[in-house]
Amino acid sequence: MTKYIGILTAGGDSPGLNAALRSVGKGAIGRFGTQIIGFRDGFRGLMENRTLRLDESALSGILTIGGTILGTSRDKPQRMPIGGDMLDMTDLIVDNYRKHHLDVLVCLGGGGTQKNAYHLSQHGLNVITLPKTIDNDVAMTDITFGFDTALGIATEAIDRLHSTAHSHHRIILVEIMGHRTGWLALGAGLAGGADVILIPEIPYHVEKIAEAILQRSRSGKQFSIIAVAEGAMPLAETNGLHAALEKKKQAKTKKEKQAAKAELAEQEDYSSRSTLRLAHQLEELTGLESRITMLGHLQRGGTPSAADRLLATRLGTACVKLIEAGTYGVMVAARGDGTEPVSLECVVGKRKVVPPDHPWIESARCVGTSLGD
Ligand code: F6P
Repeated sequence: MTKYIGILTAGGDSPGLNAALRSVGKGAIGRFGTQIIGFRDGFRGLMENRTLRLDESALSGILTIGGTILGTSRDKPQRMPIGGDMLDMTDLIVDNYRKHHLDVLVCLGGGGTQKNAYHLSQHGLNVITLPKTIDNDVAMTDITFGFDTALGIATEAIDRLHSTAHSHHRIILVEIMGHRTGWLALGAGLAGGADVILIPEIPYHVEKIAEAILQRSRSGKQFSIIAVAEGAMPLAETNGLHAALEKKKQAKTKKEKQAAKAELAEQEDYSSRSTLRLAHQLEELTGLESRITMLGHLQRGGTPSAADRLLATRLGTACVKLIEAGTYGVMVAARGDGTEPVSLECVVGKRKVVPPDHPWIESARCVGTSLGD
C-alpha cells in the first residue's frame, strides 16, 4: 500500500540536510510505493500548506548541495508569529497533515525541532526525527549531521589565522558557533592547535588566560590563538545566565514570565559581547595587540563533508526502515557505526554538553592548552 510521507527541515540550516532528504526520499521510493511531500520553511510551510513534491527528479543532484532545498525557519507550531501575535497553530498543522493523508511526518532538525515534533506527536501525528545541527548538542545521539562540516571550516580558519597572528605578534580570538555548548570550539581548537580554548561548560577566568599567554611570551612565542565558543563566559556571567534561565523556568504568572524573559534577554545581550570584552582585557593584561575573527554563518554554509553525507545517508536509511515497520514517535540516533530509534520523550528538554572528563578535554590539557580555568 502506498505510504504518504511528509518531510520538513527546521531550525538553523546545516550541511547534510539535502543528503538526508535524498536518503529518506530515494530510500522510501526504492523500498515501497510512496509519495513524498516536502513542506517549505519548516513548520511554517506545514501550517501554510506550502509544498514541494519530492519525486526522483527533485531528489537528484542534491547530495552535495549545502543548506536545504526545502528552506527552513525557526517557527514553532505552538507559538507562531502571525500578524504581530504569537499564535498556537497546532490545529491547522494537524488538519494539513490529515488533508495530505500522511502516514508519517519526518522532521529534520536540532533540539528545538525535536521538541516541536514531540508536541505534534502528542497531538496524534506519526512523527520521526533526524538529528541535525552544527552544534552537536542534541541529546541521546552520538553525533548530529552538520557538525563535521562546521568543524572542518572552523579548524581551517584556525590554521589560517596562525600565520597572521604569528607575523604580527598578536592575540587572535576566533569566535566559533555552538549555541550553549562547546563541541565545535573544543574540537576545532584542539584540531587547529589553539593555545587557549574557551567553552561554556568551563567558565573562564581572564587572569588565567592572560597568564597562559604571558607564559608563552616568556618562552619566546609572541602570539596566541584563542578558540572561543560563542557561549563561553567568565564565571560571574555564567552564574548570572543560569540564574536568569532558572527564573524563566520557575515563572508561573504572565507578569513573572515577562519579567524573567526580559532579564534573560538582557543577560544574553550582555553576554553576546563577551569575546569583545575579553579581547580588550587581554590587551591590557598582556600588552599584546588583539584581534577578533567571528566565523559566524560561514560555519553553516557550503558543501557537506564526506562524513556528514555518510551520516545523513545512514540516518535516512534507518528512517526508511522505521517507516516501513510503522515505528513512530522516535528520533533516529547515531549509535557507534549503526543507528537506534530513541523515544522523543527521552530527547526533548535535554542538551548534550561537553562532559568535564571528555577525551578532548583530557587531550587539550595534556598538550598544554589552557581552558581558562
Ligand atoms: O544552532 C545552530 C546555530 O548556528 C548556533 O550555533 C547559533 O548560535 C545559531 O544557530 C545562530 O542562529 P541564526 O542563524 O538564527 O542567527
